[in-house]
Amino acid sequence: MNRILLASRGGPVDKGFTISPAMIYLDHNATTPLHPKAREAMLPWLGGGSHGNPSSVHRFGQAAREAVEAAREQVAALLNARPLEVIFTASGTEANNAVLFHVARKAGRRGHLVISGIEHPSIREAAARLAEEGMEVTRVSPRGDGVVHVDEILAALRPDTRLAALMLANNELGTLQPVTAVADACHQRGIPVLCDAVQAVGKIPVDAPALGADYVVLGAHKFYGPLGAAALWVRSGVEISGHLVGGSQERRRRASTENVPALVGLGAAAAVAREEMPQRTVHLAALRDRFEAALPERVPGAIVHCQGSPRLPNTSNVAFQGVEGESLLIRLDLAGFAVSTGAACSSGSVEPSKTLLAAGISRDEALSSLRVSFGIGNTMADVDAFLAALAREVAELRRAIA
Ligand SMILES: Cc1ncc(COP(=O)(O)O)c(C=O)c1O
Repeated sequence: MNRILLASRGGPVDKGFTISPAMIYLDHNATTPLHPKAREAMLPWLGGGSHGNPSSVHRFGQAAREAVEAAREQVAALLNARPLEVIFTASGTEANNAVLFHVARKAGRRGHLVISGIEHPSIREAAARLAEEGMEVTRVSPRGDGVVHVDEILAALRPDTRLAALMLANNELGTLQPVTAVADACHQRGIPVLCDAVQAVGKIPVDAPALGADYVVLGAHKFYGPLGAAALWVRSGVEISGHLVGGSQERRRRASTENVPALVGLGAAAAVAREEMPQRTVHLAALRDRFEAALPERVPGAIVHCQGSPRLPNTSNVAFQGVEGESLLIRLDLAGFAVSTGAACSSGSVEPSKTLLAAGISRDEALSSLRVSFGIGNTMADVDAFLAALAREVAELRRAIA
């Protein structure tokens, strides 16, 4: 059950790292368990004999500096980028905020921003704050396929547009967005592009320079690294001002003493992701496809959102007609399965997901939807056990309201 599996020739190999023997975890877009190799790399820095401030001159500091720079190289390698282009941050939210507030500061809080209507709240709410402060924001909704269309973004651009933000993979629907085409068109107009790739990195190959955006964001805890470590890739020659000021860390682009253990864990997770990428993508897609293929028969009336669109290999967002998503989530939790009704950040609220509404999904359907996000530790047996529980719980809920 739900152990970290490392793929090898012929299929996944069980590394025996049990997350929770009683539960099957299917919420990897919210956060992933720590990979044993990331944990192993971190342990010396967690009271295991190594410590130091990377800015210190003595050898403790030098060792910490070396560890941080090695992590930077590992992250750069995953992105096919140069280490100097990588700025470490504490979260994806921080990196996304940093770009929006940098652009706004440079523009004197004037001018226009274009964001997609399905951006993560760390972009959506940052843009909303900038709108309160005087900038104008255009939100471009996706079509029913969960994909924002290039021509609609282009139509929203204005001579005073300061930034366009388009995520690479949506956290709820898993749909992939046309970042490269948007970036090409924006660059012809001199407009920089922010790409939130937090959900994509570690699940599909992401080549930051080739993607075309000027800023690319990733977060360790979405690909088996630790919480508290993320990165902002900034294309060489593109400006970014320090959003945290103080010391001269991160080449004055992000002050504060580096979180050495977390960054070492991020680096290790990036190295494993790079090594395992082809097997990961295949394994995740096989789980997702088995789930979606069996679903119509096991749970009549289940609708997979955006099934025909380009999507992440691990994400299924499904509406269960006539059933309240929150009730189903709670019953599944009691039955031993962890899923989500939407972005983790908005869980606990009974409002339907803004992303599903933006994709044209009705309020009722959005409220009856669950997100299932598979991980590298899941097995085909997990999928089958989940399908059985889902069939039982949906039928019971439907009976209760009939
Ligand atoms: C697409 C996307 N962007 C940004 C974030 C925020 O990342 P963090 O949790 O590191 O702040 C998330 C987290 O759910 C996300 O899914």
